[in-house]
Amino acid sequence: MELGYIFDLDGVITDTAEYHYLAWKQLADEEKLPFTRQDNEALRGVPRRRSLELLLKGRVFPEAKMVEMETRKNGYYQALLENITPADLLPGVAQFLEAAQAAKIHLGIGSASKNAMPVIRRLGIEHFFDAIGDGYCVVNHKPAPDLFVWVAGRLGLWPTQCYVFEDAEAGVDAALAGGFHAVGIGPVERVGRAHYVLPEGLKTAHVRDFC
Ligand code: BG6
Ligand code: MG
Repeated sequence: MELGYIFDLDGVITDTAEYHYLAWKQLADEEKLPFTRQDNEALRGVPRRRSLELLLKGRVFPEAKMVEMETRKNGYYQALLENITPADLLPGVAQFLEAAQAAKIHLGIGSASKNAMPVIRRLGIEHFFDAIGDGYCVVNHKPAPDLFVWVAGRLGLWPTQCYVFEDAEAGVDAALAGGFHAVGIGPVERVGRAHYVLPEGLKTAHVRDFC
């Protein structure tokens, strides 16, 4: 049977959560809003607008100001992305992608980020993937299954033929809602609803376990 692996990007392939934190923190400081690393955990896998709403904790601003704040944060984030190199792949990722490719498994990315393409290019891993879904591809974001369904379609596979690798609770829920096999990356408290959990990330993953 044909098989696919669909990877979330931030937190699975590379750890951009720290860059997101630093960019949101700069915005929060400028706006004199409290924002901690722990607050940032709640933004994992969450799209940009929803992240801003969570950071604002119920404060209401006109739409033009919301757009300006999103744009400002994204500018800070994109400046930090300039630092990314292939050395920023998380441990074991390159080996796992190589093993999966050697086993003829179809590979895709399903990321909520509108910056996914530049990150993938900077990491030097674009050649592994037959389909890349990013923050521009679908209207309904995780926990809706739409992005993973979109990627599976591009791979020419049914959800039941695909494993989704996700570090965010919303991403695991999206995979489950779409009928995918869900592999949670991180602590059980966060991704415990997944069919499989890899607390140490892809460095402990073997292709033979997901086929
Ligand atoms: C997700 C990240 O992959 O992308 C979130 O986990 C982020 O933290 C979201 O907010 C959107 O990213 P971007 O690059 O479009 O602002
Ligand atoms: Mg993620």
